[in-house]
Amino acid sequence: MNAEYDSLVRAYQGSKLLPFRVYSEIPNHLESLGDLYGRDVLDFACGEGFYTRLIRQSGAARVVGVDMSPEMIVLARQQEQEAPVGIEYLASAAESIPDLGAFDIVSAAYLLNCAPDLTTLADMTRAIARSLVPGGRLVATIGDLGHCGGVDYSPYGMATNATADLAEGAPYEIKFLLDEDTFSITDFNHSQVAYEAACEAAGLEVLGWRSCTVTDEGLRIYGPDFWNTWLAHPCILRLEARKRE
Ligand SMILES: C[S@@+](CC[C@H](N)C(=O)[O-])C[C@H]1O[C@@H](n2cnc3c(N)ncnc32)[C@H](O)[C@@H]1O
Repeated sequence: MNAEYDSLVRAYQGSKLLPFRVYSEIPNHLESLGDLYGRDVLDFACGEGFYTRLIRQSGAARVVGVDMSPEMIVLARQQEQEAPVGIEYLASAAESIPDLGAFDIVSAAYLLNCAPDLTTLADMTRAIARSLVPGGRLVATIGDLGHCGGVDYSPYGMATNATADLAEGAPYEIKFLLDEDTFSITDFNHSQVAYEAACEAAGLEVLGWRSCTVTDEGLRIYGPDFWNTWLAHPCILRLEARKRE
């Protein structure tokens, strides 16, 4: 499953500079993570460590990044070697990690939308619950383009073949329209009900969903009109949950 990320590690890194990431996704995910000082944090689907490094730099204590793409982990470790901040990285599917101990917070930016079916989604949420202390929090940023078929996201650097009537679990492609490094990834379409059911079955109490917002800086630089579609048809959701005591 999902070896596609091995071949596009650098291009994916470049996509982190797109305005929707800088002024919406990234501040939104960090806002939901909250105060990380002294917390132990596990970053699932860490990729090359983008959020993992921000988490550590925000004062988190023990920080571990896990990704199933060995190439992503090579790049993450390379960056840790060049500028050590004290992060452990592990190449593994989230759903089959060894016992890494219990964490205060699990960050999962774009993990759950990689589940190709409900069984894998259930395995992922169980692994998340196992990795949390009682009362510990999950912050999951979830790509939801599957529910936004027909909307034109090209001003934000994305295109999708998702149609308006995608079935539960259906795959769809997201193309990142970068000047030099256009590339595509595959996500899977799950409803909010399916995500919630998987969390609840794993012992995670769903605290709520949050939609996209845009920072004042983003509004000032690009103007409010630029963000109209982004805010009217949010294709990134945040799910917050808590491990039951
Ligand atoms: C869209 S990238 C997100 C990377 C990083 N969280 C970020 O936001 O920059 C999705 C990542 O999920 C990883 N991934 C997909 N399925 C996974 C699984 N079952 N377990 C762990 N990682 C997975 C991919 O290898 C890829 O690096």
